[in-house]
Amino acid sequence: MQIGTPLRPNATRVMLLGSGELGKEVIIALQRLGVEVIAVDRYENAPGHQVAHRAHVIDMTNDLALRALIAQEKPHLIVPEIEALNTVTLADVEAAGVATVIPTVKAVQLTMNREGIRRLAAEELKLPTSPYAFAKSEAALQAAIDAGIGYPCFIKPTMSSSGKGQSRITKASEVKTAWDYAATAGRVNQGVVIVEGQIDFDYEITLLTVRAKNAQSEITTYFCEPIGHVQKNGDYIESWQPQMMTAKALEESKRIAKAVTDSLGGLGLFGVELFIKNDQVWFSEVSPRPHDTGMVTMASQRFSEFDLHARAILGLPVDVSLREAGASAVIYGQYDTSNLVFEGIEAALAVPNSDIRLFGKPESFVKRRMGVALATGANTDQARARAKLSASLVKPIAV
Ligand SMILES: Nc1ncnc2c1ncn2[C@@H]1O[C@H](COP(=O)(O)OP(=O)(O)O)[C@@H](O)[C@H]1O
Ligand SMILES: [Mg+2]
Repeated sequence: MQIGTPLRPNATRVMLLGSGELGKEVIIALQRLGVEVIAVDRYENAPGHQVAHRAHVIDMTNDLALRALIAQEKPHLIVPEIEALNTVTLADVEAAGVATVIPTVKAVQLTMNREGIRRLAAEELKLPTSPYAFAKSEAALQAAIDAGIGYPCFIKPTMSSSGKGQSRITKASEVKTAWDYAATAGRVNQGVVIVEGQIDFDYEITLLTVRAKNAQSEITTYFCEPIGHVQKNGDYIESWQPQMMTAKALEESKRIAKAVTDSLGGLGLFGVELFIKNDQVWFSEVSPRPHDTGMVTMASQRFSEFDLHARAILGLPVDVSLREAGASAVIYGQYDTSNLVFEGIEAALAVPNSDIRLFGKPESFVKRRMGVALATGANTDQARARAKLSASLVKPIAV
Protein backbone atom coordinates (compact mmCIF):
# COMPACT_ATOMS: atom_id res chain seq x y z
CA MET A 1 0.00 0.00 0.00
CA GLN A 2 1.39 3.39 -1.07
CA ILE A 3 -0.08 6.84 -0.59
CA GLY A 4 1.20 9.54 -2.93
CA THR A 5 1.51 13.29 -2.52
CA PRO A 6 -1.73 15.26 -2.89
CA LEU A 7 -1.91 17.52 -5.95
CA ARG A 8 1.08 15.75 -7.56
CA PRO A 9 0.73 13.27 -10.44
CA ASN A 10 1.35 10.37 -8.02
CA ALA A 11 -1.45 11.43 -5.64
CA THR A 12 -3.84 8.83 -4.25
CA ARG A 13 -7.16 10.23 -5.46
CA VAL A 14 -10.57 9.51 -3.97
CA MET A 15 -13.84 10.89 -5.35
CA LEU A 16 -16.83 11.22 -3.03
CA LEU A 17 -20.19 11.00 -4.79
CA GLY A 18 -22.38 12.89 -2.36
CA SER A 19 -20.73 15.30 0.04
CA GLY A 20 -23.13 15.82 2.94
CA GLU A 21 -22.23 15.72 6.61
CA LEU A 22 -21.15 12.08 6.49
CA GLY A 23 -19.08 12.59 3.35
CA LYS A 24 -17.48 15.66 4.92
CA GLU A 25 -16.14 13.57 7.79
CA VAL A 26 -14.91 10.85 5.43
CA ILE A 27 -13.09 13.55 3.45
CA ILE A 28 -11.45 14.94 6.60
CA ALA A 29 -10.35 11.42 7.56
CA LEU A 30 -8.87 10.88 4.08
CA GLN A 31 -7.17 14.28 4.09
CA ARG A 32 -5.45 13.37 7.34
CA LEU A 33 -3.96 10.34 5.59
CA GLY A 34 -2.60 12.49 2.78
CA VAL A 35 -5.17 11.54 0.16
CA GLU A 36 -6.29 13.92 -2.61
CA VAL A 37 -10.05 14.24 -2.35
CA ILE A 38 -12.60 15.35 -4.93
CA ALA A 39 -16.06 16.13 -3.54
CA VAL A 40 -19.12 15.91 -5.76
CA ASP A 41 -22.68 16.87 -4.94
CA ARG A 42 -25.80 18.07 -6.68
CA TYR A 43 -25.71 21.53 -5.10
CA GLU A 44 -23.02 24.16 -4.45
CA ASN A 45 -21.13 24.48 -1.19
CA ALA A 46 -22.26 21.13 0.20
CA PRO A 47 -20.57 20.31 3.54
CA GLY A 48 -17.93 18.07 1.93
CA HIS A 49 -17.20 20.63 -0.81
CA GLN A 50 -15.91 22.93 1.89
CA VAL A 51 -13.09 20.59 3.00
CA ALA A 52 -12.03 18.84 -0.23
CA HIS A 53 -9.19 19.61 -2.65
CA ARG A 54 -11.71 20.16 -5.44
CA ALA A 55 -15.47 20.45 -5.55
CA HIS A 56 -17.90 19.76 -8.38
CA VAL A 57 -21.63 20.14 -8.83
CA ILE A 58 -23.24 17.65 -11.21
CA ASP A 59 -26.34 15.52 -11.57
CA MET A 60 -24.92 12.17 -10.48
CA THR A 61 -27.79 10.25 -12.03
CA ASN A 62 -26.73 11.60 -15.44
CA ASP A 63 -24.51 9.13 -17.30
CA LEU A 64 -22.65 11.64 -19.46
CA ALA A 65 -21.99 14.12 -16.66
CA LEU A 66 -20.74 11.43 -14.28
CA ARG A 67 -18.61 9.72 -16.91
CA ALA A 68 -17.01 13.01 -18.00
CA LEU A 69 -16.16 14.03 -14.44
CA ILE A 70 -14.56 10.67 -13.68
CA ALA A 71 -12.51 10.90 -16.89
CA GLN A 72 -11.40 14.41 -15.93
CA GLU A 73 -10.49 13.69 -12.29
CA LYS A 74 -9.16 10.13 -12.68
CA PRO A 75 -9.91 8.96 -9.13
CA HIS A 76 -8.46 5.65 -7.96
CA LEU A 77 -11.43 5.07 -5.67
CA ILE A 78 -15.04 6.21 -6.07
CA VAL A 79 -16.88 6.43 -2.75
CA PRO A 80 -20.67 6.79 -2.97
CA GLU A 81 -22.20 8.68 -0.07
CA ILE A 82 -25.73 8.81 -1.42
CA GLU A 83 -28.04 6.41 -3.22
CA ALA A 84 -29.23 8.58 -6.12
CA LEU A 85 -26.42 7.68 -8.53
CA ASN A 86 -26.16 6.27 -12.00
CA THR A 87 -24.99 2.80 -11.01
CA VAL A 88 -24.83 1.62 -14.63
CA THR A 89 -22.17 4.28 -15.25
CA LEU A 90 -20.28 3.16 -12.16
CA ALA A 91 -20.42 -0.47 -13.28
CA ASP A 92 -19.00 0.52 -16.70
CA VAL A 93 -16.27 2.66 -15.22
CA GLU A 94 -15.18 -0.15 -12.93
CA ALA A 95 -15.37 -2.80 -15.66
CA ALA A 96 -13.13 -0.60 -17.84
CA GLY A 97 -10.54 -0.65 -15.04
CA VAL A 98 -10.71 3.12 -14.58
CA ALA A 99 -11.51 3.16 -10.85
CA THR A 100 -12.69 0.94 -8.00
CA VAL A 101 -16.18 1.55 -6.62
CA ILE A 102 -16.46 1.31 -2.82
CA PRO A 103 -17.38 -1.13 -1.45
CA THR A 104 -18.52 -2.83 -4.70
CA VAL A 105 -20.77 -1.99 -7.62
CA LYS A 106 -23.08 -4.81 -6.48
CA ALA A 107 -23.45 -3.26 -3.01
CA VAL A 108 -24.22 0.17 -4.45
CA GLN A 109 -26.73 -1.27 -6.91
CA LEU A 110 -28.55 -3.45 -4.39
CA THR A 111 -28.81 -0.85 -1.64
CA MET A 112 -29.99 2.03 -3.82
CA ASN A 113 -33.35 0.33 -3.99
CA ARG A 114 -35.13 -1.28 -1.02
CA GLU A 115 -36.29 -4.10 -3.26
CA GLY A 116 -32.75 -5.22 -4.16
CA ILE A 117 -31.42 -5.44 -0.64
CA ARG A 118 -34.63 -6.89 0.84
CA ARG A 119 -34.75 -9.69 -1.70
CA LEU A 120 -31.07 -10.43 -1.16
CA ALA A 121 -31.44 -10.61 2.64
CA ALA A 122 -34.76 -12.43 2.87
CA GLU A 123 -34.89 -14.59 -0.26
CA GLU A 124 -31.27 -15.33 -1.11
CA LEU A 125 -29.60 -15.25 2.31
CA LYS A 126 -32.77 -16.42 4.15
CA LEU A 127 -32.27 -13.92 6.96
CA PRO A 128 -35.19 -12.96 9.19
CA THR A 129 -36.93 -9.72 8.10
CA SER A 130 -40.36 -8.19 8.58
CA PRO A 131 -43.03 -9.63 6.27
CA TYR A 132 -43.05 -7.50 3.11
CA ALA A 133 -44.50 -7.03 -0.35
CA PHE A 134 -43.96 -4.62 -3.24
CA ALA A 135 -46.80 -2.72 -4.87
CA LYS A 136 -47.10 -0.61 -8.02
CA SER A 137 -50.57 0.74 -7.37
CA GLU A 138 -52.86 1.63 -4.52
CA ALA A 139 -55.01 -1.40 -5.28
CA ALA A 140 -52.00 -3.72 -5.23
CA LEU A 141 -50.91 -2.18 -1.94
CA GLN A 142 -54.32 -2.77 -0.38
CA ALA A 143 -54.34 -6.34 -1.71
CA ALA A 144 -50.91 -7.07 -0.21
CA ILE A 145 -51.97 -5.77 3.18
CA ASP A 146 -55.18 -7.83 3.04
CA ALA A 147 -53.27 -10.93 1.90
CA GLY A 148 -51.26 -11.10 5.12
CA ILE A 149 -49.11 -8.06 5.90
CA GLY A 150 -51.92 -6.64 8.03
CA TYR A 151 -51.86 -3.58 10.32
CA PRO A 152 -49.96 -1.75 11.61
CA CYS A 153 -47.62 -1.60 8.65
CA PHE A 154 -44.99 0.68 7.16
CA ILE A 155 -45.20 1.97 3.59
CA LYS A 156 -42.03 3.34 1.99
CA PRO A 157 -40.94 4.35 -1.50
CA THR A 158 -38.42 1.75 -2.69
CA MET A 159 -36.05 4.61 -3.53
CA SER A 160 -35.84 6.88 -0.50
CA SER A 161 -33.93 7.50 2.73
CA SER A 162 -34.22 9.35 6.05
CA GLY A 163 -37.90 8.51 6.32
CA LYS A 164 -38.87 10.46 3.18
CA GLY A 165 -42.24 9.33 1.86
CA GLN A 166 -42.56 6.82 4.68
CA SER A 167 -45.67 6.28 6.78
CA ARG A 168 -46.96 3.92 9.43
CA ILE A 169 -50.62 3.13 9.12
CA THR A 170 -53.05 1.25 11.34
CA LYS A 171 -56.22 0.93 9.23
CA ALA A 172 -57.57 0.60 5.69
CA SER A 173 -58.78 4.21 5.51
CA GLU A 174 -55.14 5.37 5.68
CA VAL A 175 -53.91 3.36 2.70
CA LYS A 176 -54.68 6.00 0.08
CA THR A 177 -52.83 8.80 1.91
CA ALA A 178 -49.84 6.50 2.49
CA TRP A 179 -49.78 5.46 -1.19
CA ASP A 180 -49.97 9.07 -2.41
CA TYR A 181 -47.25 10.18 0.00
CA ALA A 182 -44.88 7.33 -0.94
CA ALA A 183 -45.52 7.64 -4.66
CA THR A 184 -44.77 11.37 -4.71
CA ALA A 185 -41.98 11.63 -2.12
CA GLY A 186 -39.64 8.95 -3.50
CA ARG A 187 -36.28 10.13 -4.69
CA VAL A 188 -36.59 8.92 -8.21
CA ASN A 189 -40.27 8.40 -8.68
CA GLN A 190 -40.57 4.82 -9.73
CA GLY A 191 -44.03 4.43 -8.29
CA VAL A 192 -43.02 1.25 -6.47
CA VAL A 193 -43.52 1.00 -2.73
CA ILE A 194 -42.58 -1.60 -0.16
CA VAL A 195 -45.09 -2.44 2.54
CA GLU A 196 -43.69 -4.05 5.67
CA GLY A 197 -45.49 -5.59 8.60
CA GLN A 198 -44.54 -3.90 11.87
CA ILE A 199 -41.91 -5.64 13.98
CA ASP A 200 -42.76 -5.12 17.62
CA PHE A 201 -39.15 -4.69 18.71
CA ASP A 202 -37.77 -3.85 22.16
CA TYR A 203 -35.07 -1.67 20.61
CA GLU A 204 -33.22 -1.17 17.32
CA ILE A 205 -29.51 -0.96 16.62
CA THR A 206 -26.99 -0.11 13.97
CA LEU A 207 -24.17 -2.62 13.92
CA LEU A 208 -21.23 -0.90 12.24
CA THR A 209 -19.47 -3.70 10.39
CA VAL A 210 -16.08 -3.16 8.79
CA ARG A 211 -14.51 -5.23 6.02
CA ALA A 212 -10.82 -4.39 6.18
CA LYS A 213 -7.49 -6.06 5.54
CA ASN A 214 -5.67 -7.60 8.48
CA ALA A 215 -1.89 -7.73 8.90
CA GLN A 216 -1.78 -10.69 6.48
CA SER A 217 -3.71 -8.69 3.85
CA GLU A 218 -6.76 -10.94 4.20
CA ILE A 219 -10.17 -9.26 4.22
CA THR A 220 -11.54 -9.63 7.75
CA THR A 221 -14.87 -8.59 9.29
CA TYR A 222 -14.82 -6.39 12.40
CA PHE A 223 -17.81 -5.25 14.49
CA CYS A 224 -18.05 -2.01 16.43
CA GLU A 225 -20.00 -2.07 19.69
CA PRO A 226 -23.73 -1.90 18.87
CA ILE A 227 -25.33 1.55 18.56
CA GLY A 228 -28.83 2.10 19.94
CA HIS A 229 -30.98 4.84 18.43
CA VAL A 230 -34.32 6.58 18.44
CA GLN A 231 -36.09 7.36 15.18
CA LYS A 232 -38.96 9.78 14.73
CA ASN A 233 -40.93 9.67 11.48
CA GLY A 234 -38.18 7.52 9.99
CA ASP A 235 -35.43 10.00 10.83
CA TYR A 236 -32.79 9.51 13.51
CA ILE A 237 -32.83 11.99 16.39
CA GLU A 238 -30.61 10.35 19.01
CA SER A 239 -28.05 7.53 19.19
CA TRP A 240 -25.75 6.00 21.81
CA GLN A 241 -23.02 3.41 22.12
CA PRO A 242 -22.79 0.77 23.46
CA GLN A 243 -26.35 -0.57 23.40
CA MET A 244 -26.65 -3.34 26.00
CA MET A 245 -27.77 -6.63 24.44
CA THR A 246 -28.07 -10.25 25.49
CA ALA A 247 -25.14 -12.38 24.36
CA LYS A 248 -27.46 -14.35 22.08
CA ALA A 249 -28.95 -11.28 20.42
CA LEU A 250 -25.48 -9.85 19.84
CA GLU A 251 -24.24 -13.10 18.36
CA GLU A 252 -27.27 -13.33 16.06
CA SER A 253 -26.81 -9.67 15.06
CA LYS A 254 -23.22 -10.38 14.07
CA ARG A 255 -24.24 -13.47 12.12
CA ILE A 256 -26.78 -11.44 10.12
CA ALA A 257 -24.40 -8.52 9.58
CA LYS A 258 -21.64 -10.87 8.43
CA ALA A 259 -23.92 -12.69 6.01
CA VAL A 260 -25.12 -9.44 4.41
CA THR A 261 -21.71 -7.76 4.21
CA ASP A 262 -20.00 -10.95 2.95
CA SER A 263 -22.52 -10.99 0.15
CA LEU A 264 -22.07 -7.29 -0.71
CA GLY A 265 -18.28 -7.68 -0.56
CA GLY A 266 -15.43 -5.20 -1.03
CA LEU A 267 -13.71 -3.06 1.56
CA GLY A 268 -15.30 -0.46 3.81
CA LEU A 269 -17.66 0.20 6.67
CA PHE A 270 -21.34 -0.76 6.58
CA GLY A 271 -24.22 0.30 8.85
CA VAL A 272 -26.39 -2.76 9.42
CA GLU A 273 -29.80 -1.85 10.87
CA LEU A 274 -31.40 -4.52 13.04
CA PHE A 275 -34.54 -4.83 15.16
CA ILE A 276 -34.22 -6.74 18.46
CA LYS A 277 -36.77 -8.42 20.73
CA ASN A 278 -35.29 -10.48 23.58
CA ASP A 279 -32.90 -12.83 21.77
CA GLN A 280 -34.60 -12.46 18.39
CA VAL A 281 -33.12 -10.29 15.62
CA TRP A 282 -34.54 -9.06 12.30
CA PHE A 283 -32.55 -7.50 9.48
CA SER A 284 -34.00 -4.13 8.43
CA GLU A 285 -31.59 -2.46 5.98
CA VAL A 286 -27.92 -1.69 5.39
CA SER A 287 -25.86 1.30 4.24
CA PRO A 288 -22.64 0.34 2.42
CA ARG A 289 -20.99 3.39 3.99
CA PRO A 290 -20.95 5.33 7.29
CA HIS A 291 -24.36 5.65 8.90
CA ASP A 292 -25.99 8.75 10.38
CA THR A 293 -26.58 7.06 13.76
CA GLY A 294 -22.84 6.24 13.76
CA MET A 295 -21.89 9.91 14.25
CA VAL A 296 -21.74 8.99 17.95
CA THR A 297 -18.45 7.21 17.21
CA MET A 298 -16.77 10.62 16.79
CA ALA A 299 -17.03 10.79 20.59
CA SER A 300 -17.13 7.17 21.72
CA GLN A 301 -14.55 5.26 19.69
CA ARG A 302 -10.81 5.48 19.31
CA PHE A 303 -11.44 5.79 15.55
CA SER A 304 -14.73 7.18 14.28
CA GLU A 305 -16.76 5.32 11.66
CA PHE A 306 -15.34 7.85 9.16
CA ASP A 307 -11.74 7.08 10.09
CA LEU A 308 -12.56 3.38 9.86
CA HIS A 309 -14.13 3.76 6.41
CA ALA A 310 -11.12 5.77 5.18
CA ARG A 311 -8.64 3.22 6.48
CA ALA A 312 -10.59 0.20 5.26
CA ILE A 313 -11.05 1.47 1.69
CA LEU A 314 -7.33 2.29 1.44
CA GLY A 315 -6.51 -1.28 2.47
CA LEU A 316 -5.17 -0.20 5.87
CA PRO A 317 -5.79 -1.96 9.20
CA VAL A 318 -8.60 -0.84 11.52
CA ASP A 319 -9.15 -0.67 15.27
CA VAL A 320 -12.85 -0.70 16.17
CA SER A 321 -12.41 -0.39 19.93
CA LEU A 322 -14.76 1.67 22.05
CA ARG A 323 -13.11 4.36 24.18
CA GLU A 324 -16.04 5.29 26.41
CA ALA A 325 -19.82 5.38 26.45
CA GLY A 326 -21.11 8.07 24.11
CA ALA A 327 -24.20 9.61 22.58
CA SER A 328 -25.30 11.92 19.79
CA ALA A 329 -28.34 14.20 19.46
CA VAL A 330 -29.45 15.89 16.24
CA ILE A 331 -29.66 19.68 15.83
CA TYR A 332 -32.39 20.63 13.34
CA GLY A 333 -32.52 23.88 11.41
CA GLN A 334 -35.94 24.88 12.78
CA TYR A 335 -36.25 27.53 10.04
CA ASP A 336 -36.44 27.58 6.27
CA THR A 337 -33.64 30.02 5.46
CA SER A 338 -30.27 30.39 3.77
CA ASN A 339 -29.02 32.74 6.49
CA LEU A 340 -29.07 30.56 9.57
CA VAL A 341 -27.08 31.63 12.63
CA PHE A 342 -26.41 29.46 15.67
CA GLU A 343 -26.44 30.95 19.14
CA GLY A 344 -25.95 29.34 22.54
CA ILE A 345 -22.87 27.43 21.48
CA GLU A 346 -20.99 28.62 24.58
CA ALA A 347 -23.65 27.05 26.77
CA ALA A 348 -23.82 23.89 24.65
CA LEU A 349 -20.08 23.34 24.88
CA ALA A 350 -20.06 24.05 28.62
CA VAL A 351 -21.94 20.77 29.13
CA PRO A 352 -19.32 18.33 30.52
CA ASN A 353 -17.70 15.99 27.95
CA SER A 354 -19.67 17.53 25.09
CA ASP A 355 -18.76 18.53 21.56
CA ILE A 356 -20.71 19.70 18.51
CA ARG A 357 -20.48 19.51 14.75
CA LEU A 358 -22.17 22.17 12.64
CA PHE A 359 -22.30 20.84 9.11
CA GLY A 360 -22.21 24.16 7.25
CA LYS A 361 -25.17 23.38 4.97
CA PRO A 362 -25.92 26.49 2.93
CA GLU A 363 -29.67 26.14 3.26
CA SER A 364 -31.68 25.33 6.36
CA PHE A 365 -35.11 23.72 6.54
CA VAL A 366 -37.25 23.28 9.63
CA LYS A 367 -36.50 19.54 9.69
CA ARG A 368 -33.11 19.55 8.03
CA ARG A 369 -30.27 18.11 10.10
CA MET A 370 -27.83 21.00 10.46
CA GLY A 371 -25.61 19.71 13.20
CA VAL A 372 -25.16 17.16 15.93
CA ALA A 373 -24.20 17.29 19.59
CA LEU A 374 -21.88 14.59 20.91
CA ALA A 375 -21.07 13.62 24.48
CA THR A 376 -19.42 10.93 26.53
CA GLY A 377 -20.19 9.81 30.06
CA ALA A 378 -19.73 7.16 32.71
CA ASN A 379 -22.57 5.26 30.99
CA THR A 380 -24.91 5.78 28.05
CA ASP A 381 -27.62 7.33 30.25
CA GLN A 382 -25.27 10.09 31.30
CA ALA A 383 -23.90 10.51 27.76
CA ARG A 384 -27.44 10.72 26.32
CA ALA A 385 -28.54 13.31 28.87
CA ARG A 386 -25.48 15.41 28.08
CA ALA A 387 -25.82 15.15 24.30
CA LYS A 388 -29.52 16.06 24.43
CA LEU A 389 -28.85 18.98 26.76
CA SER A 390 -26.01 20.23 24.58
CA ALA A 391 -28.14 19.96 21.39
CA SER A 392 -31.04 21.77 23.06
CA LEU A 393 -28.78 24.69 24.02
CA VAL A 394 -27.80 25.35 20.40
CA LYS A 395 -30.34 27.90 19.17
CA PRO A 396 -30.71 28.34 15.42
CA ILE A 397 -32.04 31.77 14.47
CA ALA A 398 -32.98 33.09 11.05
CA VAL A 399 -31.57 36.54 10.32
N1 LIG B 1 -41.20 -3.05 9.56
C1 LIG B 1 -40.93 -2.19 10.54
N2 LIG B 1 -41.28 -2.48 11.83
C2 LIG B 1 -41.02 -1.61 12.83
N3 LIG B 1 -40.42 -0.42 12.67
C3 LIG B 1 -40.05 -0.06 11.43
C4 LIG B 1 -40.29 -0.93 10.31
N4 LIG B 1 -39.83 -0.30 9.21
C5 LIG B 1 -39.33 0.88 9.62
N5 LIG B 1 -39.46 1.04 10.94
C6 LIG B 1 -39.02 2.22 11.73
O1 LIG B 1 -38.76 3.31 10.85
C7 LIG B 1 -37.35 3.62 10.84
C8 LIG B 1 -36.91 4.03 9.43
O2 LIG B 1 -37.12 2.94 8.53
P1 LIG B 1 -36.01 2.54 7.46
O3 LIG B 1 -36.51 1.38 6.70
O4 LIG B 1 -34.72 2.38 8.16
O5 LIG B 1 -36.01 3.81 6.51
P2 LIG B 1 -34.82 4.77 6.05
O6 LIG B 1 -34.19 4.09 4.90
O7 LIG B 1 -35.51 6.03 5.67
O8 LIG B 1 -33.88 4.91 7.22
C9 LIG B 1 -36.67 2.37 11.38
O9 LIG B 1 -35.39 2.67 11.92
C10 LIG B 1 -37.69 1.92 12.42
O10 LIG B 1 -37.62 2.73 13.59
MG1 LIG C 1 -32.88 3.29 8.15
